[in-house]
Amino acid sequence: MDAISTKGLTRDYGGGKGIFDLTFSVGEGETFGFLGPNGAGKTTTIRHLMGFLRPRAGSCAIGGRDCWRERENIQRDLGYIPGEISFFNDMTGAEFLRFLAGYRGQKPVRQKELLDRFELDPRGGIKKMSKGMKQKLGIVAAFQHDPAVLILDEPTSGLDPLMQNRFVELLREETARGKTILLSSHMFEEVERTCQRVGIIRAGRLAAVDSVEALRKRHLRSYTVTLDTPERAESFARDFGGQQDGCRVTVTARQSLEEIFLHYYGGGEHD
Ligand SMILES: Nc1ncnc2c1ncn2[C@@H]1O[C@H](COP(=O)(O)OP(=O)(O)OP(=O)(O)O)[C@@H](O)[C@H]1O
Ligand SMILES: [Mg+2]
Repeated sequence: MDAISTKGLTRDYGGGKGIFDLTFSVGEGETFGFLGPNGAGKTTTIRHLMGFLRPRAGSCAIGGRDCWRERENIQRDLGYIPGEISFFNDMTGAEFLRFLAGYRGQKPVRQKELLDRFELDPRGGIKKMSKGMKQKLGIVAAFQHDPAVLILDEPTSGLDPLMQNRFVELLREETARGKTILLSSHMFEEVERTCQRVGIIRAGRLAAVDSVEALRKRHLRSYTVTLDTPERAESFARDFGGQQDGCRVTVTARQSLEEIFLHYYGGGEHD
């Protein structure tokens, strides 16, 4: 059974905005990257998965439970980091984490470890926290009850590079522990380092869904270089792992996920 699935999920906001006939699934234990430019429909999709929005057409399910009909259970059980985190500003971080654990009825078994890992002191008032501190609080809130499924909407926005790295390490550990993760991101490196498969969404439609490896393979790029002697060509081919033919050497390079991404975005200058 798929851990997360959408079938024909549609929400038309008019003027070509929204999400249209989205069908994809994430297997149990898989980390799935959800990439797309601003306004592509990532957050809208995720809000349906979390049961905050009712599908206008189609459906989505997590662990076999319909996201809308069983939204209470889904919201209680999942680990969720919203795209725009808004907290109860009059609480301290610690109060918020306690409140959330109480609401879920699940012990925050990993809270202390996560606070240490992200070097967050939760005792201060949320109102006075920096953007990065709030993001860290959101991470601890999403992971503290050790959920089996995590839906993460741009979880590293606002984090400095050191903390982004710690987050990538956390994701890799969670994947190794068999968690199912949907990761929406603008950061190719983050997705390449953590995800097995990736879906690229553009203007509310899926432009591609494939393994990171297959996407890269399909987008191999060849360069032919001509040297002045076959000897030079031979040594060039050796150094760069190319195919030699007389004075000519063909080198095949894999495009980075970023280049592939730009290709699907349709930016003409990146052909
Ligand atoms: N409640 C709404 N009413 C009308 N249009 C909306 C509504 N919510 C979102 N949209 C539009 O739907 C499109 C998708 O928005 P969404 O927030 O899902 O994009 P996103 O992929 O998460 O973008 P970003 O990378 O900027 O977070 C946008 O054009 C947005 O303006
Ligand atoms: Mg968004």
